[in-house]
Amino acid sequence: MNQPVRIGIVGLGTVGSGVVRLLVDSADHITRHAGRPILVEKAVVFDPAKKRTVQVPGGKISSDIHDISRDESISVVALLVGGLEPARSMMVELLEQGKDVVTANKALLAEHGPELFALARKQGRSIAFEAAVAGGIPIVAAIGECLAANRIESIRGILNGTSNFILTRMEEDGSSYAEALKLAQAKGFAEADPSMDVDGTDATQKLAILAHLAFGAWVPWAEIPRTGIDGLDIDLLHYAAELGYRIRLVALATRSDDRLAMRVAPALVKIGTPLAETRGAYNAVSLVGDAVGRMFFHGLGAGQMPTASAVVADIIDTVVGRTAITFRTTGLLSPDSPAAKLAGVATHQRHFLRIHVSDRPGVLARITGILGDHGISIASVIQHDPVQQDPADIQQTGVPLVIMTHTCAATAVEAAVAEIDRSDAVRGRSVCLGVLDD
Ligand code: HSE
Repeated sequence: MNQPVRIGIVGLGTVGSGVVRLLVDSADHITRHAGRPILVEKAVVFDPAKKRTVQVPGGKISSDIHDISRDESISVVALLVGGLEPARSMMVELLEQGKDVVTANKALLAEHGPELFALARKQGRSIAFEAAVAGGIPIVAAIGECLAANRIESIRGILNGTSNFILTRMEEDGSSYAEALKLAQAKGFAEADPSMDVDGTDATQKLAILAHLAFGAWVPWAEIPRTGIDGLDIDLLHYAAELGYRIRLVALATRSDDRLAMRVAPALVKIGTPLAETRGAYNAVSLVGDAVGRMFFHGLGAGQMPTASAVVADIIDTVVGRTAITFRTTGLLSPDSPAAKLAGVATHQRHFLRIHVSDRPGVLARITGILGDHGISIASVIQHDPVQQDPADIQQTGVPLVIMTHTCAATAVEAAVAEIDRSDAVRGRSVCLGVLDD
């Protein structure tokens, strides 16, 4: 038997504890894959006195990163703390001290990736990050290695488990947004600051990483247009269902020539299509490669053990030396990465509109007239008889008018909605969502 490799873990939260548990419980199986035992020698945590659900096999636990970074018996470290600081400083310290690093921290990579990857290259070390995108789905390896022969044409994904969990609970059992979010936090899906999940930040950071793997270009995540699920309400989900759709937070990246169109936003997805059938904390990635055609990946994108599965696979790859080769040959996030030209999302698709209008003669004609003026053709209209509504409420909030358009340019529909919202017949801001029929 080969000598064991000793690793360090920084952070014993949801993911860190799962990684320790997996390394201990599946030790024989993992030893076979790694060719030698992998032992967690030490852990560094913010509060060593805290009661934990797992024991560190090496028994050493401290709050000082130097206890791991300066330990020469440790060659690989899993950095499993979220947020930017102190995660960034810790990663720098570990790389400078010659450790190979495995991380699940997509915010750190999306924000500081180029600088950290440059440091790793300079030090002759590697950074592995399968767990940073789509939890247990091996999408980083799939795009970075297995599909390397392809020019990827487009990526479409559900990349935030918390948002998907909330939407599914709301549509399946009528949970309120707040109840569903609380449950997602209790289940360990949400970020420490769940606003990053529901405002689209987390999915956008993951999309920036995936797009770099797929298209080679590095787009700073903050430049990608994003809308989260935090502006949605249960009525929108009901109208979508009435039309044969579900609402999902969809991340899109499409290449045409040297331009990239990217966006994260809620969209209507047709019931029966794979994205619509992606439920709960599951993530999905649908991509098109020029040789392989369309592929679909589906699996748990958040939660302790699915994420631990990806981290441990990265630890094994790093121990056996595969990560170092990939890291060296793919030149990820290198200064030679082409800067992407981010194009406007020149999408032509159907659109779903919900407009609150005052309930008086001629209003429908005005709204449809504005759409017509912008060259937008209407596929269907829903306006329920407001017989159940209190007349005072109707006066205050208006009545909902739901319109499904035929295929039209997103730019035309945005201009039309802006004009509609300026009308004195409209209450509040209208909702406009893209529609994905395949
Ligand atoms: N908070 C993330 C999600 C999990 O809900 O998808 C880790 O990426």
